Amino acid sequence: MSAQYDEIGEKVADWDVLPVRSEYIEGHSFFKALGSVAERTVLDLACGDGLYTRQLKARGARRAVGVDISEEMIRVARRQEAQHPVGIEYHVSDVADLAPLGTFDVVTAIYLLHYAHSPEHMLRMCRNIHAHLKPGGSFVTYSFNPEFSAKGPNSTRYGITMLDFPGSPREGQMLSAELHTKTPFTIHFSYWSRATYEQALRDAGFHTLTWMRPECSPEGIARYGREFWQDYLDNPHAVALRCER
Ligand SMILES: C[S@@+](CC[C@H](N)C(=O)[O-])C[C@H]1O[C@@H](n2cnc3c(N)ncnc32)[C@H](O)[C@@H]1O
Repeated sequence: MSAQYDEIGEKVADWDVLPVRSEYIEGHSFFKALGSVAERTVLDLACGDGLYTRQLKARGARRAVGVDISEEMIRVARRQEAQHPVGIEYHVSDVADLAPLGTFDVVTAIYLLHYAHSPEHMLRMCRNIHAHLKPGGSFVTYSFNPEFSAKGPNSTRYGITMLDFPGSPREGQMLSAELHTKTPFTIHFSYWSRATYEQALRDAGFHTLTWMRPECSPEGIARYGREFWQDYLDNPHAVALRCER
């Protein structure tokens, strides 16, 4: 399931302009949950083509390291780094099997934990995340919303559509979503409840887990109007989660 991004390849090139992935919702909500990274060291897991890793560096991170399971995604990220060097290093690995890369002030992961194929796989990811944090460090992630509802709005105008979403998803059930990029593609991942995420994170040693629903930035409201976003904000596909070590 995780190597699916090797096939998706450069179809992700324009996914950052989808309304839901834009700075108005995802970027705004994620960076609000994260806080300042100025002069901090940051490990960005499931970094993909480095979209957020570069933003973390641009926001003043002293050291930024990206990790992704997909060789293709890391190839694209490294190509960007070669063309516009900002000092990011990238590694290919499943987070569950991550070799030690040092310890960091902050670990981030935008869309990682719902790719766990079992609770045991998720626990191994969470243990490695914990092991890469300095004492007192934070893990901030943005992930599929366990409370997404088949009954709620699921509008294509935001750039992502959940496909055949079940009324009551089972633990570990395979879910699919279509991304409406210029060359649309479908991603597959697993459904896990809040309790499953929290169990893995607590078993790995995290405390004070804070879930945060996405919000729209004032710029996003100015650009599209409040009404445009309401359906998405009533049933967001993803949520932020902050965990303290
Ligand atoms: C939706 S993309 C997000 C990429 C990037 N964080 C962003 O927001 O643009 C999810 C990424 O997770 C990676 N991934 C999935 N399972 C993984 C795992 N077990 N370890 C590391 N990366 C993984 C995929 O290869 C893919 O690049």
